[in-house]
Amino acid sequence: MASVTSLSDSVHQRLAAALSAALPQAGSADPLLRRSDRADFQANGILALAKKEKANPRELATQVVAQVESGGLLEDIEVSGPGFLNITVSDRAITENLSARYADDTGRLGVPRAENPGTTVIDYAQPNVAKEMHVGHLRSAVIGDAVVQLLEFTGENVVRRHHIGDWGTQFGMLIQYLDEHPHELDHGSAEVSGEEAMSNLDRLYKASRKLFDSDEEFKTRARRRVVDLQAGDEKTLAMWQKFVDESKIYFFSVFEKLDMEIRDADIVGESGYNDMLAETCRLLEESGVAVRSEGALCVFFDDIKGPDGKPVPLIVQKSDGGYGYAATDLSAIRDRVFNLKADSLIYVVDARQSLHFKMVFETARKAGWLNDDVKAYQLAFGTVLGKDGKPFKTREGETVRLVDLLDEAIDRASAVVREKAQDLSEEEIAERGAQVGVGAVKYADLSTSANRDYKFDLDQMVSLNGDTSVYLQYAYARIQSILRKAGEVRPAAHPELELHAAERALGLHLDAFAETVTEAAREYAPHKMTAYLYQLASLYTTFYDKCPVLKAETPQQVENRLFLCDITARTLHRGMSLLGIRTPERL
Ligand code: ARG
Repeated sequence: MASVTSLSDSVHQRLAAALSAALPQAGSADPLLRRSDRADFQANGILALAKKEKANPRELATQVVAQVESGGLLEDIEVSGPGFLNITVSDRAITENLSARYADDTGRLGVPRAENPGTTVIDYAQPNVAKEMHVGHLRSAVIGDAVVQLLEFTGENVVRRHHIGDWGTQFGMLIQYLDEHPHELDHGSAEVSGEEAMSNLDRLYKASRKLFDSDEEFKTRARRRVVDLQAGDEKTLAMWQKFVDESKIYFFSVFEKLDMEIRDADIVGESGYNDMLAETCRLLEESGVAVRSEGALCVFFDDIKGPDGKPVPLIVQKSDGGYGYAATDLSAIRDRVFNLKADSLIYVVDARQSLHFKMVFETARKAGWLNDDVKAYQLAFGTVLGKDGKPFKTREGETVRLVDLLDEAIDRASAVVREKAQDLSEEEIAERGAQVGVGAVKYADLSTSANRDYKFDLDQMVSLNGDTSVYLQYAYARIQSILRKAGEVRPAAHPELELHAAERALGLHLDAFAETVTEAAREYAPHKMTAYLYQLASLYTTFYDKCPVLKAETPQQVENRLFLCDITARTLHRGMSLLGIRTPERL
């Protein structure tokens, strides 16, 4: 019997199931089915099985060929070489499978939802209060957002946490300064734009820093203010809140430019764990996980040593009683595991913080907060480099402001859109320019695997050719234009039709969308989705070159090709939206 299939099974999965069922010890061996150049698929698993069973691989392969029940799936299956199987699937199977995906009225294209979803807390998009966002904050936001979308699409419960830097000694300085210069944050109108809010803060920060460095008495007053803040002094807290609120206006404006939804309730900064810090330290000290060393509370590790061979500890509490970044992160773990009931914790943070997270996670494991059922993972990302291969800087050698970078991308993209545009108004050009520009930046960031550095090259990013979002967006818009031209003729699947080689290649790839989503989500690997989409657009281009759509030979063929066009468009749209990238209907 052919195995029972569900809508979400691809031709590939159905074939693998049919082969497994035909193997001796059905189900226990993997047929190792791969796409192949010679036929649609090649199965290599029989070699290993024959070895295990001490059987002749070619004989075993012949036996499988005789026994396989394909339920209309197979066009051709033959034994080749030492015992491989070359398999061609039927045109009908491809079209029927795609037709089922197309008919999925939830818009999920047959992508299954996890049966037993877990709860993931993801820490991403974490700028710092009273500081401008720079290019380093781009990656965490973009990668984090894509992983959120991918996970949610597969049915996972996702809790977002924006662990903003809103606590620490610099706030003593800022608050004291504002207290002494009360009108510095005033602005004429009630409505403040994000940029304006940040330029106010920036001015204040610079002025307070200057005073702090030049005036000893101010320095003393500023230090006292930190103590007040940590002790929860009401007036000090109210002023601190003002900084946070002002910064949030700015953060929201940058995230909006990034075309990304950030919710206020998900912003739980370092300050949010303040009440847990003492308890975290007590638990670590009582359990012996942390020990006092020269007055500081420290955790030591066997495998973490400095260049001098001495162990490097994680400092949970400083000798002056102050708590730092580690205490906050350990408290956040307790909150995420015990209050939010997470079973996976993801941290989308720069690879340069890897040692910190390694130590924090190891400490949490020693304390029993993390274990085999509750795991933490740093989705570490590499550095954004300039064209010269060095960390990206402005010509003046300063870190690049995220807004400037986005504005430039939008400018460049608008120029590209304007050049190609035939019937777009200025307003439309501006809107598309933003969608193309921001999409280009996101795509370039997502299409290299996160842990690698990449070069920020706007010329390449907004290019119409090659592995760019613009190429994918144009493919999508071109399909929409064909569908409009088709007028009354609607896309419809005709499984009885024979397919062109280019249609088969496109169809089999379209059919693999669900597996790609599942894999990209499971591995927190958005770059697997970009690679899939790029290949999809390339296969579509080949199909379009080889197979006339509106001028196909028969009305059925026109409808079937329109159907292939439409399901390609829907797949592109869905895949891109999982990456936070828009697909304009016209370009
Ligand atoms: N605000 C930090 C920075 O700008 C990133 C925070 C990362 N998250 C965390 N839980 N430590 O570098």
